[in-house]
Amino acid sequence: MENRPVVNLGILGLGGVRLAALKHMNRNRKVLERRLGVRLKVNRIAVRDRRIKRKVRVDRDLLTEDPWEVVNDPQVQIVCELIGGTDLARELTIQALGNGKMVVTANKALLCEHGNDILEAARRSEAHIFFEASVAGGIPIIKSIREGLVANRFPTIHGIVNGTCNYILTRMQNEGKRFEIVLAEAKELGFAEADESLDVDGIDAAHKAGILTFLAHGKWIPMQEMLIDGIREVTSNDMRVADTMGYRIKHLASVVSDFERNSVFVGVYPALVPKEHILARVDGVYNAVCVSGDVVGTTVLIGRGAGQDATASAVIGDIADAVFSLRGAEMHHLPDDKNDPLLPGLPRLAVAKREEVKSAFYLRMTVRDEPGVLAAITSLMARENISIARVVQQLEEDGGGRPSKTASAVITLTTHRCSESSLSKAKRALSGLEIVLSKPFVLRIASFPN
Ligand code: HSE
Repeated sequence: MENRPVVNLGILGLGGVRLAALKHMNRNRKVLERRLGVRLKVNRIAVRDRRIKRKVRVDRDLLTEDPWEVVNDPQVQIVCELIGGTDLARELTIQALGNGKMVVTANKALLCEHGNDILEAARRSEAHIFFEASVAGGIPIIKSIREGLVANRFPTIHGIVNGTCNYILTRMQNEGKRFEIVLAEAKELGFAEADESLDVDGIDAAHKAGILTFLAHGKWIPMQEMLIDGIREVTSNDMRVADTMGYRIKHLASVVSDFERNSVFVGVYPALVPKEHILARVDGVYNAVCVSGDVVGTTVLIGRGAGQDATASAVIGDIADAVFSLRGAEMHHLPDDKNDPLLPGLPRLAVAKREEVKSAFYLRMTVRDEPGVLAAITSLMARENISIARVVQQLEEDGGGRPSKTASAVITLTTHRCSESSLSKAKRALSGLEIVLSKPFVLRIASFPN
C-alpha cells in the first residue's frame, strides 16, 4: 500500500444522495485514491437518529446526532453538507467555512438564498465551497462555466434543469395523459420532491437559474426578481396544437443578458421550443444546458439531472476538487501510462482484440433475383452463428421504374450482435457466392448505454 496522506471527511446527513456517494466512493475507492493521491477517510457523520438501520455499512462509532460536532471537529477537512433546508444548513455551512474547512453541498436553495453570506464566509477564512451537484444533477455544468468556458461572457444560457417537470411533460406529450395523473406517477416513482411544488411550480428550477446566473455574471438575483412559472396549467391539448405548429413544450430556465444595457433577465417557464432544436429532443428525467459564450459559440451538456447516482457523481467530483485545493495542487492528476497503472495489481491495460469486439451490423449486397438466394444467404450467416435481425429486398430498376433485365435485387440485412471475426468470415464467404453480384458493404450499428 502506497503511503498517501489521509484526508478526513465529515458528512452532514445520511439520506439517499449521501448513501449513494458513500457507496460509489467505496466501490471506486482504489481508482479514486490513486487519482487524488490521498486516502479518503470518513471521520464523522451527523444523522437524525443513530439507531436506524442503513443500506450502506457504516461504523456506528462515526455517527453523531449533533451536526455541530462534525463542523467543529478539528480533524475533519472536508464537510459534505447534504441536509437540505436553509436555516440550520446556513449556520452549519458558515461555521464549517469559518473553521477553514472545505464544504461540498448540493443545496441549491441555500446558495440561492444565502450565496453572498456563504461566499463571504469562505473568503474570510480562505476556505472553498463546491456545489456541482446543486444544478442539473450529474452534468458538470458548474465546472464547465467556471473553468472550461472561463474565456467567455455569456449572452444566453437556456436549459432544462428540472428532471421532474421534463419527465411529466414528456409523458403528457407521448401518452396524452393529464398533468395530475403523470404527477402522481412521478411521485410514486420517487422523481418529484416530497413537496411537489418545488418542482412543478418552478422553484427548484429558479434556484438553479440563480446559481447559473451567479456563475455566469457574478450576481445573485433574488427570486422575486425572476420570472417563475410552473407547468400545472399546460395541457396535452396545448402539446398537440404546439406539435402541429412545429414545437415541443419544455420547462426552460433562461438567463439572457443585454451587455449594452448591462442587464440580465432570469426566468423559468414552460416554453414552445422548435422541434428541431436539441432541447426539444431532451426527454424524461434528462436535463440539458445550452450555454452560449461570446468566444466559443454554443455548447450543450446533456445528462441525468435527477437521481441519487447522478448526484453522487457530482458530489464525489466536488470532494476531488476539495482535495486538490487542500493539497495546494497546481493541476489535477493525469494518469502516468509508463509508471503508474490506475489499478495497482492489475496487468497493464490491453487493447481489445479487434476480432473479438462485438457489434450489430448492417450488410448491403446486390444479388441475382432467383429462387434460393435468400436461403443461401441466411444459411451461410447461420453457419457463422450470426443471427439476422431484419431483411429488406429491393428490385434493381432500369431507371424507368421497371425491374432490371438482369433480374438482380439489393438485399440489405441487419444482424444481432456478433463478433467482428464472424462477420468478416461471413462477408468473405458471401463475396465468394456466385449469386452475390457485389462485394457486401458493411456498416456497424452503434449501440449506446441507456
Ligand atoms: N427535483 C429535482 C429535479 C432534482 O426533478 O430535477 C434535484 O435537483
